[in-house]
Amino acid sequence: MITIKEGVFHLSAGNYSYAFYEKDGRLVHSYFGNKLDISEERLATSLLALGRHDNIGRDWALSEYAQFGRGDFRIASVEITGNAFASTEFVLCGYEILKNKPSTDLPQLRNGGETLKLTLRDKISRLQLNLFYTPYEEGLVRSARLVNNSGEDVNVCKFMSTCIDFPQGKYNTLNLNGRWGAECTPCIDKVTSGIRQFSSCRGVSSHQHNPFIAVTSSDTSEDNGEVVAMNLIFSGNFVAEYESDEKTQLRVNIGEKLMHGGIVLKDGDVLNSPETAIVYSNHGLGEMSRLFHKLYRKNLINPKFANVPRPVVVNSWESFYFDFNEGKLLDFIDGAKGLGVDTIVLDDGWFGKRDDDTGSLGDWFIDTNKLPNGLQPVIDRCRKNGFKFGIWFEPEAVNPDSRLYRNHPDWALHVKDVEGVTMRNQYMLDFSNPDVVDYIFDSMKLILDKYDISYVKWDSNRPLSDISDASKLFGYVRGVYRLYERLLERYPDLFIEGCSSGGGRFDAGILYYSPMIWTSDDTDAYERCRIQYGTSMCYPLETLSNHVSACPNHQTGRFTPLHTRGAVASMGSLGYELNVGLLSDDDKKQIAHQVENYRRDQHLIMNGDLYRLVSPFEDNAFCQMVVSQDKSKAYLVFLRALNTPNLPIPRVRLKGLDDKALYRIIERNTVVSGAELMNIGLNMQLKCEDFSAEILHIERCDG
Ligand code: GLA
Repeated sequence: MITIKEGVFHLSAGNYSYAFYEKDGRLVHSYFGNKLDISEERLATSLLALGRHDNIGRDWALSEYAQFGRGDFRIASVEITGNAFASTEFVLCGYEILKNKPSTDLPQLRNGGETLKLTLRDKISRLQLNLFYTPYEEGLVRSARLVNNSGEDVNVCKFMSTCIDFPQGKYNTLNLNGRWGAECTPCIDKVTSGIRQFSSCRGVSSHQHNPFIAVTSSDTSEDNGEVVAMNLIFSGNFVAEYESDEKTQLRVNIGEKLMHGGIVLKDGDVLNSPETAIVYSNHGLGEMSRLFHKLYRKNLINPKFANVPRPVVVNSWESFYFDFNEGKLLDFIDGAKGLGVDTIVLDDGWFGKRDDDTGSLGDWFIDTNKLPNGLQPVIDRCRKNGFKFGIWFEPEAVNPDSRLYRNHPDWALHVKDVEGVTMRNQYMLDFSNPDVVDYIFDSMKLILDKYDISYVKWDSNRPLSDISDASKLFGYVRGVYRLYERLLERYPDLFIEGCSSGGGRFDAGILYYSPMIWTSDDTDAYERCRIQYGTSMCYPLETLSNHVSACPNHQTGRFTPLHTRGAVASMGSLGYELNVGLLSDDDKKQIAHQVENYRRDQHLIMNGDLYRLVSPFEDNAFCQMVVSQDKSKAYLVFLRALNTPNLPIPRVRLKGLDDKALYRIIERNTVVSGAELMNIGLNMQLKCEDFSAEILHIERCDG
């Protein structure tokens, strides 16, 4: 709901109220927190009387969208330079409530209804700024738009999607930081005086920092305390930054990072920021995650796939790497018979002359040395065994050793007269150039039109370098989105798994198109507990693509029981990444059993509420449970990392159940109340070994 009374703008839904007001054309932020169930008159009076933030001077006022050069010296949300000016002062000159959220050329939350649109004009540059606010049940979406009708070109150096000013207080921040093979590690930091940034200038959202930031009270935990969390719906360069001032007020900005001095906004042009999804929780990080999960399930994921079980795949990568041929693939497909999986995905190595990673990216035609009869026999064998077929592309990349590069060297990102930097022996294509996107679309079309392909794994394996000007980076990510749009327009049923050397582009922008993203190249079950735990902070479980792989694990050399690998991978979208053609009968049986059980639980996993019970960052264990919306069913996975003699038996208190209901623990055939499970807890029954895991199903049995 959006109400406007006595200059106070109030947005509320679900559990939150968000309010700001106008004073002499300036927008003063006044409240974001628990829903205020009071009359609009009372709200206006109390916010103006109790929450005044404008009467202490420009430098300290809480701003709704921060500006530079007119007396506020903290980090700004917008910076524009032009003919003899480098300051802005946007003042409110109008507002309206739109029936629906306007769309832009960027991925955004769907189903946006009532939207507050503010119009401000810069006293200095004469540019127009629009701020958009759309309340959803679970949270709020904000974005900004600049319209240059000033009569001259200007330079936009900084243009944030969202700014939130917090009143003086003690705060922590939570960020999801990481590296290749260890994405999305939750990092909690105490906010101290000064400025801090989390950002990517890699052209992709990156393994290093996710476009996510949460501000919490200093005592926030998994279940208690306040959280305001922001997630940018964007896949390119971004910045999430904060400044804590001398009064311990905190300003947070999040938005696209415009590099190299910014971009030119020509007279008559419009610049849209990405959207930010914002949630408020007063029940800690657990509720924050559940709100994001619901918001994204309902409004971000392509509705065609949102509520449909994700396919259980067997992927060829760790089985063969580049070393396969038709015969090996046919055996592989036959090996998957009886496992109950849906789709066989042929990973890297099927095109050009791709025997290793030194060549052929960009040459999207079949390698007839490996596949002399094309893909048809492979697809036929899949059909015969009841499987669908999927294939890998890395559309944005090109190897210097490729036909594409030899024909179009200028299509790779490059700086004139300087040799490009290769990473994994490849360059990135200039996706800001529509001809390049058209060419790649046409090459993919040749394959996708010819063959019956239901699934594409879209990979992107290196960051961008050799940028000749800022518009290239700006245009690049938009080119990626354009290719997604074109593919999905032509093949609306095509399931595209996102990937970027694992989770290098695990963000809400990609999730708008890809219902599932390869979470990490690290497939070790213990490592995955951590990566999946962190990624679940913001992203719904079913969007995490998790594969059971072979042991010793290819990334860590570690052995973990097959049962444990299956248990961990089931906390998301389960798949396999091992040579199913070489499995022992015992392993086959176990895998068939895993898949059968997973199918039974999949609906719960993709619709339920997630409770993180034990953090693998704090304990020698990991435990998560998912509870159905009506609290009638729960699914729990517990893993103990290293075993040590004489350890106490781990006990876990469950969460999210109905305390008055009776539940049967299926694996133990015992009946206990929700209150007992949540207060006394359950002892875990583990084998005497490292990396032992237990799976429990809990079902209501009193009604
Ligand atoms: C990346 C992906 C892997 C695999 C390889 C293929 O590293 O993350 O899953 O597809 O590329 O080259």
